[in-house]
Amino acid sequence: MQEKLIKLKDEALKAIEAVKNSVNLEDLEIKFLGRKNGELTNLMKGLKDLEGEAKKTFGALANEVKTAIEGAMNNKKTEITQSEWAKNLATESIDISQPSLPAQKFGSFHPNTIIQRDLENLFSAMGFMVLDGPELESDYYNFNAVNIPADHPARDMQDTFYIKGFDFFSENPQVMRTQTSPMQVRAMQKYGAPLRVIIPGKVFRNESTDVRHEHTFYQLEGIVIDKDINISHLKGVLQVLVKHLYGPETKLRLRPKYYPFVEPGVNGEVTCFLCEGKGCRVCKHSGWLEILGAGMVHPNVLKEGGVDPKVYQGFAFGFGLTRLVMLKYGIDDIRLLESGDLKFLKQF
Ligand code: DAH
Repeated sequence: MQEKLIKLKDEALKAIEAVKNSVNLEDLEIKFLGRKNGELTNLMKGLKDLEGEAKKTFGALANEVKTAIEGAMNNKKTEITQSEWAKNLATESIDISQPSLPAQKFGSFHPNTIIQRDLENLFSAMGFMVLDGPELESDYYNFNAVNIPADHPARDMQDTFYIKGFDFFSENPQVMRTQTSPMQVRAMQKYGAPLRVIIPGKVFRNESTDVRHEHTFYQLEGIVIDKDINISHLKGVLQVLVKHLYGPETKLRLRPKYYPFVEPGVNGEVTCFLCEGKGCRVCKHSGWLEILGAGMVHPNVLKEGGVDPKVYQGFAFGFGLTRLVMLKYGIDDIRLLESGDLKFLKQF
C-alpha cells in the first residue's frame, strides 16, 4: 500500500514537471486529485480497511503525498500563468497613434425641467402633492368646471385648439387644455378635502407666435383646501415662493384682478429682480413684475369638486413656468424653449 503511494507521488511529480500548459495541468489535477476518481483519492479509500498503527502511518503518508502533489501543482500553475502572460505581452501591441473613442456625451436638463423640479421640491417641503393631468382635456374640465360656462366672455381670454372626433370623456368636445386650472377640480374629485397639491404641466393656446407668445408653454397650478383658510394663507405661501425664486429681499403685492375660478381674485406682482424696484426695461419702468394669478377658490368650483363651501375654503394660484424660466435665464424669445435647438439647450 505504502509503496503504491510513493510510486503515485513520483509519477505525479514527474508528470507535473513535464506539463507545458494550463489545460494539461488541469487534466493532471483531475487524474491524481479528482474527488470522484482521482488516483490518490482511490488509494485513500483503502484507509478504511486498515487498523491501528498501519492506519496511522498510511494516513500520514497519504497526507504528505497529497500536500506534495498540490504544492507542485501550484508552483506549476504560477509558472505557466507567468509564461502565458509574457507570451501575450510579446504578441500584443498598442497603436498609440490611433484616434481615441469619441468622448461620452451627457445631455442636460431642459431649463423648464430645472425650474419645475426646483419648485416641486419647494412645494413638497410644504406638504403639497405633485400631480399630473391630461393635456387633451374635456371642454367641461377646462372651462365649465372652473366656472367658465359655454357662453361666458371669459372664454375669450384663452383661445384654444378644439379636437374633432374624440370621445374619451362623456363631456365633449375635447380641447388641448389652455390652463392647468382644470386639475383643481380633478384633484378635489379624486382626493377630496383637505387638499394641498401643485400641478405643473404643458398648456396650449391658439396664438400667433412671436417672441412673447407661443402655442405651447408650461404653467404651475396650486390649490389648498382646508377649514378656516383665508387670503393671508395664500399670501404666506406666495411669499415663500417669490423669495425662493428671487431672493429674500423680494416684495410681493397682490392687487384685485378678475379670474372666473376665484373670488376674490388677485394678481401677484414682485419687485423687479433686475432693478430691485427702481424701474427698468424688464419691468417696463414700473418696478414691479406681474408673475401670477391667484385668489380664494370660488364656491362654484368647490361644489364642482364635491367639496362643501360651507365647511371648507381654499386658495388657488397659477403662473407661467415658462415666463419664470425666461426671467430667470434672461431668455428673450419664448420660441427657443420648444425649438429643440441644441445650440440653445446646451447652455443649461
Ligand atoms: N389659469 C390662469 C391662467 O391661465 C392662471 C390662474 C389665475 C390660476 C388665478 C389660478 C388662479 O389658480 O387662482 O391665466
